[in-house]
Amino acid sequence: MLELTNISKTYVNGSIVTTALDNVSFKIHQGEFVSIVGPSGSGKSTLMHILGALDIPTSGSYSINGTNTEKMKDDQLAEIRNKEIGFIFQAYNLLPRTSALKNVMLPMAYAGVSKTKREQRAKELLEAVGLGDKLTNTPNQLSGGQKQRVAIARALAMNPTLLLADEPTGNLPTNQSVEIMDIFQQLNNEGHTVVVITHEEAIAARTKRMITLVDGKIISDEDLI
Ligand SMILES: Nc1ncnc2c1ncn2[C@@H]1O[C@H](COP(=O)(O)OP(=O)(O)OP(=O)(O)O)[C@@H](O)[C@H]1O
Ligand SMILES: [Mg+2]
Repeated sequence: MLELTNISKTYVNGSIVTTALDNVSFKIHQGEFVSIVGPSGSGKSTLMHILGALDIPTSGSYSINGTNTEKMKDDQLAEIRNKEIGFIFQAYNLLPRTSALKNVMLPMAYAGVSKTKREQRAKELLEAVGLGDKLTNTPNQLSGGQKQRVAIARALAMNPTLLLADEPTGNLPTNQSVEIMDIFQQLNNEGHTVVVITHEEAIAARTKRMITLVDGKIISDEDLI
């Protein structure tokens, strides 16, 4: 379970202070399927970075499964990021000159999984996202939707309980967006907690709960049925 309590985040650049998140509190329980929506600049990516322990809040507290992240040491946070959380970014963040297979194997290499096991799991994951015939393609030999599916396979490499996706369909045509959301829905059905950041209503409508941010504040948090 994730719990944010009175989280604020300000960025200071010279004399300019930007309040990206302003006193945000909410909980996300295991197995939820949540969308975070809001206009450009409303703080969505900032929130994702905090949820993923990639960044720390200026004030407030964030706990993961009951432990305050402030009390965690750097190596403990790194382990959580590697094993418990799968990240999917809008810009894919794949290694450009590396095959789909090797991109998916990478997080497992960091975790010390044997090469045979890494390769086998990466293959299975790429097959699961429909890329069994593209294992050796590098990212520039793949379409946008295929790249995003490689990124999803990579995010699943360590079988994380939590998947955080920032605008996962932002660069994709509608048919490919639907495929990506089908994959997230399937993962949520299997018990993964999925948090998707989007500015598209149709994408948010596929989730079960929608949190809306405006100017760094939550203006609504509703269950979608
Ligand atoms: N590293 C930074 N330094 C200074 N200001 C920042 C930084 N990162 C974000 N901001 C500012 O914080 C606010 C929130 O940014 P954020 O990236 O979280 O918005 P967003 O909701 O993800 O927007 P978008 O939909 O355009 O991706 C914006 O005003 C942005 O300019
Ligand atoms: Mg953003």
